[in-house]
Amino acid sequence: MPDPKTRPAWQSLFAHAATLRPRHLRELFAEHPRRFEDFSLGSGALLMDFSKQRITRETLEHLHELARACDVEGWRERMLAGEHINHTEDRAVLHMALRAPATAALPTRGESVLPEVHATLARLREFCEAIHGGSWRGHSGDRITDVVNLGIGGSDLGPRMVSRALAAYQQPDLKVHYVSNMDGADLAPLLARLNPRSTLFVVVSKTFGTQETLANARTARAWLQAHVSRGPAVERHFVAVSSNLEATAEFGIPPANVFQLRDWVGGRFSLWSPVGLSIALAIGFHHFEALLAGAHAMDQHFCTAPARDNLPLTLALLDIWNINCIGAHSHGVFPYSQSLELFPAYLQQLEMESTGKSVDRQGQPMERKSCPIIWGSAGTNGQHSFFQLLHQGGQPIPCDFILLKEADFPLAGHHAQLLANGLAQSAALAFGQTAAEARAAGIPEALVPYRTFPGNQPSTTLLLERLDPGTLGQLLALYEHKVFCQAVLWNVNAFDQWGVELGKQMASQLLPSLQGESCPAHLDASTRGLLQALQ
Ligand code: F6P
Repeated sequence: MPDPKTRPAWQSLFAHAATLRPRHLRELFAEHPRRFEDFSLGSGALLMDFSKQRITRETLEHLHELARACDVEGWRERMLAGEHINHTEDRAVLHMALRAPATAALPTRGESVLPEVHATLARLREFCEAIHGGSWRGHSGDRITDVVNLGIGGSDLGPRMVSRALAAYQQPDLKVHYVSNMDGADLAPLLARLNPRSTLFVVVSKTFGTQETLANARTARAWLQAHVSRGPAVERHFVAVSSNLEATAEFGIPPANVFQLRDWVGGRFSLWSPVGLSIALAIGFHHFEALLAGAHAMDQHFCTAPARDNLPLTLALLDIWNINCIGAHSHGVFPYSQSLELFPAYLQQLEMESTGKSVDRQGQPMERKSCPIIWGSAGTNGQHSFFQLLHQGGQPIPCDFILLKEADFPLAGHHAQLLANGLAQSAALAFGQTAAEARAAGIPEALVPYRTFPGNQPSTTLLLERLDPGTLGQLLALYEHKVFCQAVLWNVNAFDQWGVELGKQMASQLLPSLQGESCPAHLDASTRGLLQALQ
């Protein structure tokens, strides 16, 4: 049953969409020369240009009306208050507390979690300083030279992406590696290069029950023990980040080596927590603090900026428009920054695990489509592979372009070329090339149909002053809050992920058949056939 409070707002949005859908961005730009001034917003180091979206001022009126009807602000207050808005897991959602100053009060109702957050940060700082300063050593007295983060999903993607993005801040003399896949091809070649005397494993698993992470952690422990003839190897070479202290102890990691996670931090929102330990080891604790401060600045903006100036809310509303009104099924993300090459993969989990749902908060089938397929890669690489489809494939695919004003690795002439390409692509996608323009450019008549570009492909461009820990923190928190707003607008719980469970259960049921037992009789013909072929 659609919520009667929001029904009129959706209906008037759809009625407006029916009039605007046939219009081309060329016309919209011609009619409204101040589109850039009117459809761009800034906060901190970020400028967001959404003038190339297929909207008018009236569209924004309707979208903001929807946000009011869905009570986005009320839900934000509930989240801050510590209400269990993750209702299917009966949990609060307080990742903003992880980057808030000690003097803040979060949750706003009930006991503050800030003293614990800051005590944990102090422990993390002390640990990082011990590794960087060389006072924490391996069992044989060697300095730690390599850190291996063992985790998957939110316990891998965020930290891996941030460490990659901030490579310019990499600590000297310490290499940080990430291993997530249970495929031995991930861990084995790395172990072959590492020295067990100077390697530290950081096992990151909120549940400490995730098959992939435990398989890798056990293999790493066995590798270490095989190379160590005596002494307290595990306690000098393993630390854990988890909320399951019983399981970490059972694994053999002493409590002093465990950094605890609380249940009010969701995996895909956790890079600000001790899950970010490998980031802090990679870039140094003060840079990790700058990352937190950047995210906190975006939190402040999200919580205080009026709706019309609010970047996360605007980004969310534009997605709603593209998905539910323009009919987009997928969304491309193109950072014109090699350092941000892992950003699309990180966003895939953040968005698709949060809002890739078709049952609403009341347990009813949703009336509307929610999360599109998120994909992308660093520019300009994508231009030489899939951009063809964006230009002439005939499907509406909204895009986010992320450009850096300053290069993080400047090489003479490179950055201007990179920016020129990013700007050119968003303009070419928006405005295309008509047959008349192709002819005027001297294209032979036979080729005109192939050299015509329909355009009208919507995009938002995010311009970041530079890529540093603070600006990256702002960018990531922007997307986190966007996802929160989208979930409110679609009336889904962004913080559970029941959809990943079935496959995990089935894998445990199939495992014995791959270890020599006979196939269970109830299996479908396809799986049975494949298992038999493997046996
Ligand atoms: O299977 C999905 C998931 O639960 C993610 O939500 C989570 O980030 C990931 O697995 C890893 O979970 P954990 O940190 O408990 O190992």
